[in-house]
Amino acid sequence: MQSDRRIVNLALIGFMGTGKTSVGRFVAELLDFHYLDTDEMIQSGTGRTISDIFKADGEPAFRALEEKVVVELAGRTKTVIATGGGLPTNPNNFNSLKAHALVVCLWASPERIWERVKNQSHRPLLHDADPQAKIREMLATREPFYKQADVLLNTELRSVREVAQQIVHQFRLATSSR
Ligand code: S3P
Repeated sequence: MQSDRRIVNLALIGFMGTGKTSVGRFVAELLDFHYLDTDEMIQSGTGRTISDIFKADGEPAFRALEEKVVVELAGRTKTVIATGGGLPTNPNNFNSLKAHALVVCLWASPERIWERVKNQSHRPLLHDADPQAKIREMLATREPFYKQADVLLNTELRSVREVAQQIVHQFRLATSSR
């Protein structure tokens, strides 16, 4: 791990539907940390939903808001940060998170992701004629970014509690050896 890092937070990255919100809340409870979600920060900061921002202003406008929120996060301590699925594809965001957080990626197969998201409608990028193909394609494009995380955890055969406990273990290892 780079020596210029100051790991005081924990960032969860990963594709939509990999469990960042439920796992993140659990980890925050176990570590007695605050919990923040970048999508919620954008929604409360703008007073608009993510769907509305995508629809009215387009994806680049949303990505610019994401980058602004990531800059604000650099001042946080003792915080679990759940990030939107596309956030780490911007290297500025990834580098910024890595400076102050252990970055953990939650992983799942496209089939499992589809199972988890198919009854939800709040994700504009999945409003597609063939959402399953879209998931496969986006996951393949994003895989190299996700794999730059400090820890990569497959969530498929583990409960939320087990995933959260693994993450806490990794966080304690990363912060005690420094
Ligand atoms: C996105 C994921 C969403 C949200 C937006 C775009 C993406 O967050 O940021 O709809 O690009 O993968 P979740 O990963 O929390 O669903």
